[in-house]
Amino acid sequence: MPNSNGNASSVSIRSNPRSSAQSAGKLGPVILITGASQGIGAAIAKVFAREVGGVRLALVARNGRTLATTARACVKAGAKAEVFVCDVADEGAVSSLAAAVTKRFGSVDVLINNAGVFAGAPFAELAVAEFDRIVSANLRSAFLVTRAFLPAMTRRGRGDVFFMSSIAGLGAYPNAAAYCAAKCGVTGLAQVLRAETKEKGIRVCCVHPGATWTSSWSASGVARERIMPAADVARAFLDIYRLGRNTVVEEIVLRPQRGDV
Ligand SMILES: NC(=O)c1ccc[n+]([C@@H]2O[C@H](COP(=O)([O-])OP(=O)(O)OC[C@H]3O[C@@H](n4cnc5c(N)ncnc54)[C@H](OP(=O)(O)O)[C@@H]3O)[C@@H](O)[C@H]2O)c1
Repeated sequence: MPNSNGNASSVSIRSNPRSSAQSAGKLGPVILITGASQGIGAAIAKVFAREVGGVRLALVARNGRTLATTARACVKAGAKAEVFVCDVADEGAVSSLAAAVTKRFGSVDVLINNAGVFAGAPFAELAVAEFDRIVSANLRSAFLVTRAFLPAMTRRGRGDVFFMSSIAGLGAYPNAAAYCAAKCGVTGLAQVLRAETKEKGIRVCCVHPGATWTSSWSASGVARERIMPAADVARAFLDIYRLGRNTVVEEIVLRPQRGDV
């Protein structure tokens, strides 16, 4: 959690000596992933840890204990990983996060704005506080974190920014007005950022998954086989990142093979 004055706190995870030796001499990219404590964010961290040599991961969420579990799995897979406990909807905490990550790793090469929360309610029953909570966690967070790390990317003339939108960020998603508004906002934010930074070496990709198996689906009654595994969505981030720098995947839609549930 941010401490009482809104600072982000960080914890080092000891690197596996064998994997440190393997990556010695070659410092890989610095990749910051928000919402890395579980679900799709944890799956993204693990696939980059396994497949990108020397990768240095800055893993961000509010829950330090579950973040540390992700970090240990990444270190075991060969990455360097450090956890940064931070509420990414809090402006002061994000400012402290940027200072802490920069001090530890230097500039961030790839920023993955994945943190978010889902909650559904019919429009007419949506409380104002709930609307604010959902919009803050999904949209304000992506704005704050991107705003904090973008200047260093533009100074270097290089960087990748991913935004986690949703199929709810492409059109009406009934009974989830706040989530739909937030994700449509994320889609717009990504489009504007791409237009403003395409001449500065920045690639901006907006990802729109449909139903993806994470804990939020475990009590839904939907069969796990009916929807996408988080590892598949995570793999898409890696594949997009690996394309040559003259190519940007602007938007990608991933759906369960049998369509939306
Ligand atoms: N699963 C799906 O079907 C699906 C489909 C389309 C899009 N998405 C999007 O994909 C992203 C990940 O979803 P998921 O299913 O993996 O969700 P999840 O399992 O609930 O994980 C959400 C992650 O976001 C973090 N988070 C939430 N609010 C935060 C805050 N204020 N500050 C810092 N971290 C915060 C959580 O960590 P802490 O609680 O520890 O902070 C957690 O690590 C979300 O943006 C979601 O909207 C999911």
